[in-house]
Amino acid sequence: MKIKNICCIGAGYVGGPTMSVIALKCPHININVVDANQDKINAWNGHIDNLPVFEPGLSEVIEKTRNRNLFFSTNINENIEKAEMIFIAVNTPTKTEGKGAGMAADLTYVEACARDIAKYSKSDKIVIEKSTLPVRTAEKIKEILISNNKTVNFEILSNPEFLAEGTAIEDLFKSDRVLIGGDDTESGQKAIESLVNIYKNWIEKEKILTTDVWTSELSKLASNAMLAQRISSINSLSALCEKTGANVDELSHAIGMDHRIGSKFLKASVGFGGSCFQKDILNLVYLCKFYGLNEVAEFWHQVVKINNYQKERFAQKVIDHFDGNLTGKKIAVLGWAFKANTNDSRESAAIKVSEILYKNGASLSIYDPKVQKRTIVNDIQNLWKIKNSMKEKKINIVEKFAATNDCDAFVIITEWEEFKNIDIDDAKIIFDGRNINENKNKFSIGK
Ligand code: NAD
Ligand code: UDX
Repeated sequence: MKIKNICCIGAGYVGGPTMSVIALKCPHININVVDANQDKINAWNGHIDNLPVFEPGLSEVIEKTRNRNLFFSTNINENIEKAEMIFIAVNTPTKTEGKGAGMAADLTYVEACARDIAKYSKSDKIVIEKSTLPVRTAEKIKEILISNNKTVNFEILSNPEFLAEGTAIEDLFKSDRVLIGGDDTESGQKAIESLVNIYKNWIEKEKILTTDVWTSELSKLASNAMLAQRISSINSLSALCEKTGANVDELSHAIGMDHRIGSKFLKASVGFGGSCFQKDILNLVYLCKFYGLNEVAEFWHQVVKINNYQKERFAQKVIDHFDGNLTGKKIAVLGWAFKANTNDSRESAAIKVSEILYKNGASLSIYDPKVQKRTIVNDIQNLWKIKNSMKEKKINIVEKFAATNDCDAFVIITEWEEFKNIDIDDAKIIFDGRNINENKNKFSIGK
């Protein structure tokens, strides 16, 4: 099928950047990114410095493509109808209630997309799972499509996204691989070919892998689990380093020089954050349990458990330093984003560490260069489940690092460049959760 119009449902951290890069590399295709959230769409259409997603290089791509062959709107029905190819890039968070709560992926948003696609489609469609989904979700999507629309032929592909936030544009330009899963039927293979032809505009043919739908879906969960596992492995060793006096950075360097192991994702830290790792591993654990593979489930669950342990262990270091009492202590929390170069705070270690410090009596001054004040306030109110925290004036969200200089201690949570050599009075205490502060490593992870 010749693709002239693409519709992407979901204008978030994946939908926005991926579609902008496809639009840049395929000027012959019109791309409509639609979302139910009007404010987000307004922001995508608004001033280039205030896009809803902060990613290095994104604004340059948007400036070249927006209103040329890339459009953002809330007009879901019309754009579904117009497109030959539809990407589903909506959120799939961990379920908070019902069967599988706290573990399984919540497919409500994906299912709503499938119902919309069935409702508004008048011609054949290739429907692509871009969201990260549990194995065999495509079957469920197909069921919804077929039972709600008997006149149109739907072909479902899985095309998981491997970009990392903070380097999304670079990752999309030079993907290690693009994975496409489809049915082994004539129409399935044709659909795969249509998608391969899009990626071929800038990705080398050898890097475009094709497989069946289930293998593709599972590869995404497995990739994230393997990456997160490395972080939990080195973080577990960081605790042992602290007890024995070994240096975790040097240990990591020594391990990583073995080319069979490799050096990436071996940096000890206060714990991984982000919207993907924890959610996808819990999803994998749920799947294993569902199939009765309890030992396998327990193996992967341990990756998340060590991550929680690391965040709590780090917060406890701060509490112990002040002899178990943070009352009257003012602590600067440096960084709210889950990693540098993003404005995303989902599952950030900052949320858990700060909560523990606050609930042990500390006053907090929180500073992040990119996360909006509104996001920090929402995180605190929604996740700490405390009322009137802001009114008590025990939590201040500040707009400049300089505004934290009256604090007794500094806790570095995000590896922002500007925190690397910050000038903090020698008399003050630094707890470095990312091992980044070269000048003052007073209390670093693993040291
Ligand atoms: P996000 O929350 O940033 O964006 C999702 C968007 O979908 C939201 O703007 C929401 O309003 C919209 N939406 C939800 N339901 C809708 C509906 N029925 N109709 C229209 N719009 C709807 O999420 P994200 O970070 O972009 O992640 C999307 C998916 O991609 C998830 O499955 C995630 O696991 C996966 N993923 C994310 C990353 C990442 O780095 N964030 C990387 C790879 C894969
Ligand atoms: C991850 C995957 O890397 C990406 O392929 C997938 O598509 C989405 O999930 P993301 O969460 O955006 O990407 O960022 P990533 O670079 O993986 O970092 C995740 C977390 O791990 C961050 O909190 C980061 O600080 C932490 N991390 C990373 C470490 O603590 N140590 C490391 O060595 C590497």
